[in-house]
Amino acid sequence: MKKYYITTPIYYPSDKLHIGHTYCTVATDAMARYKRMQGYDVMFLTGTDEHGQKIEQKAKEAGVTPQQFVDRVVAGIKELWKLMNISNDRFIRTTDDYHVSAIQKIFKQLYEQGDIYKSVYKGKYCTPCESFWTETQLVDGKCPDCGREVQDAEEEAYFFRLSKYADQILKLYEDQPDFLEPASRMNEMINNFLKPGLEDLCVSRTSFSWGIPVDFDPGHVVYVWVDALSNYITALGYQNDRYHDYEKYWPADVHFVGKEITRFHSIIWPAMLMALHLPLPKKVFGHGWLLLEGGKMSKSKGNVVDPVILADRYGVDALRYFLLREFPFGSDGTFSNEALISRINSDLANDLGNLLSRTVAMVEKYFDGTLPAQQTSAPLDDTLISMAASLRDRYEAQMEKFAFQNALIEVFTVISRANKYIDETTPWILAKSEADRPRLACVLYNLLEVLRISTGLLLPFIPVSCEKAWAQIGATSEQTAWDTLATFGVLPRTVSVTKGNTLFPRIDMQAELKALETAQAASQTAEPESQKAEPIAIDDFAKVEMTVCKVLACEAVPKSKKLLKFQLDCGEGVPRQILSGIAQYYKPEDLIGKTLVACTNLPPRKMMGLESNGMILSAEKDGKLNVLMLDDTIPVGSKLC
Ligand code: ME8
Ligand code: MG
Repeated sequence: MKKYYITTPIYYPSDKLHIGHTYCTVATDAMARYKRMQGYDVMFLTGTDEHGQKIEQKAKEAGVTPQQFVDRVVAGIKELWKLMNISNDRFIRTTDDYHVSAIQKIFKQLYEQGDIYKSVYKGKYCTPCESFWTETQLVDGKCPDCGREVQDAEEEAYFFRLSKYADQILKLYEDQPDFLEPASRMNEMINNFLKPGLEDLCVSRTSFSWGIPVDFDPGHVVYVWVDALSNYITALGYQNDRYHDYEKYWPADVHFVGKEITRFHSIIWPAMLMALHLPLPKKVFGHGWLLLEGGKMSKSKGNVVDPVILADRYGVDALRYFLLREFPFGSDGTFSNEALISRINSDLANDLGNLLSRTVAMVEKYFDGTLPAQQTSAPLDDTLISMAASLRDRYEAQMEKFAFQNALIEVFTVISRANKYIDETTPWILAKSEADRPRLACVLYNLLEVLRISTGLLLPFIPVSCEKAWAQIGATSEQTAWDTLATFGVLPRTVSVTKGNTLFPRIDMQAELKALETAQAASQTAEPESQKAEPIAIDDFAKVEMTVCKVLACEAVPKSKKLLKFQLDCGEGVPRQILSGIAQYYKPEDLIGKTLVACTNLPPRKMMGLESNGMILSAEKDGKLNVLMLDDTIPVGSKLC
C-alpha cells in the first residue's frame, strides 16, 4: 500500500491555541483525509513542544511546576483537536519518556562523531521564540522573527556544526527545487541565511532547567529546537522502542509549517538529518499567517480569535471550510467575522445547501422520494455532466499542490453550474405535464449525481456534513469512494432520497455580528477555568495594589476598536497612563472627571505601541464591561484594602 506521512508543527503549550494554530491543523487534516480517500496508508502526526524557558516562566507565574503546567494546557489542546474533528493518527508530547531518551541518544551521537562540540556562547536570545541570534541577524536590535526585545546571553554551551552543511543545503535546493514551497520562501532562505554563510548553532543551555538534560554533562539542557524538530522521527520510533514505524513512514512526504518557522525546517532540520545520515523529508511547505487588523494574531498582542466560539456558533465544518476556502494556503490572509459569515452564507447555505435541499425536496414532491427508471436525457445536460465527470481530476491537480482554495473553487463552480441548470431546465414546469415526467426524472437524477460527486470531494474539508448529505441523496459510502468520483452515473437510476435538516442555516449578518462580538469580548476577558476555581491566600490578595484615581483625560486609540487611553491622577504627583479595552461601551468624553479604581502595581505593558501602566477595574456581565465608578468623596490616591 502507498504510504503518506504528513505532520503539523508541534505546538507550544504556553497559551491557549487560537484560530491561527487551528488553521494549520485543519489544513493538515484535510490533506490527510484526502490521501486516505485516495487509498494511502496515512500517518498524520501532531503534538506539543513542551520544553524551554518560556514554559518554565509561565509555570512559575502560574505557581505550578512546568510539568503540571503543560499537562493542563495539553489536555485543552487535545480537546480542541477533537472538537475540530482532527483525524491525527498520533500525538507526540516532547515530555514523553521515549522522546526524551531518544533525544539524549541523538545528542550524544552527534557529540561523539564531532558534529556537536563544546564552546562559549555569546549573543542574543529571544525568549518567546526560543531563538538565538547574532548581532548581525537582529533587525533594529530586535528579534527578526517577532520584533520583540532580545536579551544578552553568555554561557558555556554545546554547538552544532551547522556551518559545515551550508553547501549541502544549497545543493539540496538546487537538486530539488520543490523541497521548500512556496518558491518565494526558498529564495528568502538562500538570500537571507545561506548566501551570507551559516554560523554554528548553539544547542544547549545552562541558564534554566526545563529541558531535556544532556546526560553526559549535568547542568546542560538540549536546545528546544533540536528537541522539537526530532519529534518527526522519534514519534515513529527512531531511537526508541515505543513505536516501530520509522522504516515504514520516514522520510515524511510533507511537513506543514508556518512561514516564521520554515528556517528551522528547511535549514536546521535537513542539516541535523544529514549529520545523522538519515534521509530528508520530501517537502516542507511554509504556509502564511492569519492576520487580524494587519498584525499577526498572537496572545501577547491580545488580538486572538477563539476557534471554540466560532465552532460552537456555526459548526465545525463551516469553520473548517472557511479557513481553507478564504485564504490561499501559501499567503497571509486577514481574518474577519464578516468574511466568515458571508462565506458561510454564500457558499454553504446558498450554493451547496440550496442545491441539496431543492433537489431532495423535488424528488420527494414529484416522485414520492424515489426516481422512476424511465428517464430521458437532453443535449442541455452535456455541459453539466462533463463538468462533473472531470471535476475529480481538476480537484486532484489542485490538492496535489496544497492549493486548497483552488480545489474548493473547482467544486463550487460545478455546484453553481448545477443551480443554474435548475433554472434552465425549470423542473416545476416539467412537473406540470405527464409526458415530461421521464425528462423531469433525468434532470433530478443529474442533480443528485452532481451532489454525490461534489460532496464526495468535499469530504476532507467538511466530513460531517458530507455524510449527512449522502444520507439525504441516498448515496452509500461505496458510491462516494474516490474511484467512483470521476464517473457520472454511479447512483442507481431508481435512487431514493430522504429529506433531512438544513445543513448550513443562513445567518443574519447584522444581528449575528453583534452577538458574536459580544461573545468574543466576553471570552477575551474571562479568566481561565482553572484559575477561577482555586482559592488564593490572603497574602496574594494583599499583593494587588488598587488605587482610587480621577480621570484627567481620556481619548480613543487610533485604529483600535477596543482601547481607550486614560491619563489618571492617582495621587502620585504625575499623571499615570493606562489603556483599557472599553471603547465599545463608553464615549471617552463621558469618563473625564470620574473617580475610578485602577490596579497600579502591574508591570508596564505595550498595546498598539502605547504604554499602559496598570489596569482600570471593570465588572463583566454577559460580555459587557462596566467601569467601577466611585463617588467623589473618596480621596484620590487612597488604596483599597
Ligand atoms: O512554532 N496564522 O509552535 P507555535 C497562521 N513549537 N499560523 C499560525 C498563527 C497565525 N496567526 N499563529 C501561529 C512553534 N501559527 C514550535 C514548532 S515544530 C518542530 C515546533 C502557526 O505554537 C505557526 O506558524 O508557536 C506555527 O507553524 C504553528 O502555529 C505552531 O506555533
Ligand atoms: Mg511560534
